[in-house]
Amino acid sequence: MNLVDECKFLRDGWPYEEGHIIPDDRTCRMIHTILKLTRCKNVLEIGFNYGHSAFTFMTVDTNLVYHSLDICKYEHTLVNTDHLKVKFGNRFEFTKMSSHDLDPAKASEYDMIFIDGDHETEGMSKDLNLCIQAQPKYILLDDYNSFMGGDIYPKKLLRHFLTKDDFNYRPVQEFIYRATDMTNCMLLLERTG
Ligand SMILES: C[S@@+](CC[C@H](N)C(=O)[O-])C[C@H]1O[C@@H](n2cnc3c(N)ncnc32)[C@H](O)[C@@H]1O
Repeated sequence: MNLVDECKFLRDGWPYEEGHIIPDDRTCRMIHTILKLTRCKNVLEIGFNYGHSAFTFMTVDTNLVYHSLDICKYEHTLVNTDHLKVKFGNRFEFTKMSSHDLDPAKASEYDMIFIDGDHETEGMSKDLNLCIQAQPKYILLDDYNSFMGGDIYPKKLLRHFLTKDDFNYRPVQEFIYRATDMTNCMLLLERTG
């Protein structure tokens, strides 16, 4: 499966802002593998942007229920959520909000939380702490193995979380894929207890 052409409408007429996945064969295979390994029925995504990852997840698994959150710092975000609502119906839900304000009880309704929102160290820490409280079976952490600039080292932050007694997750697999801004890496984590 290759969804590059099918996703073109998501960027049509909009300026390029922040990065997103490129849904080529390799990325679609990666998402298929993640869904097969986890048998997720529903996903909570932190960080929708143009909607490429949401579109790809829901196209690869035609039964998947997907809820995206975004603070909507870009104009295209809300517009594209309307397109995805038309395309995917009630399998897709969108909430304009910061993940930092999300009630952990709500987040606990999902099999997997996909973290791809605030990339500052503090913001990523808050999202990982949300997972500690919500205890989804799986966490998918984007931009895992990258140097994001400034003093942001997601891998180092994750290494710190893996030493914490209350972080009951273990790494399952790293996935390399193509994003608009670089070759990128996602890490799948599974709850241990
Ligand atoms: C890298 S983009 C997401 C890319 C998308 N997952 C994809 O690959 O198609 C990051 C997005 O996270 C959003 N964001 C930043 N901080 C957030 C937060 N605290 N809660 C929810 N969304 C946030 C930004 O507005 C931006 O649209």
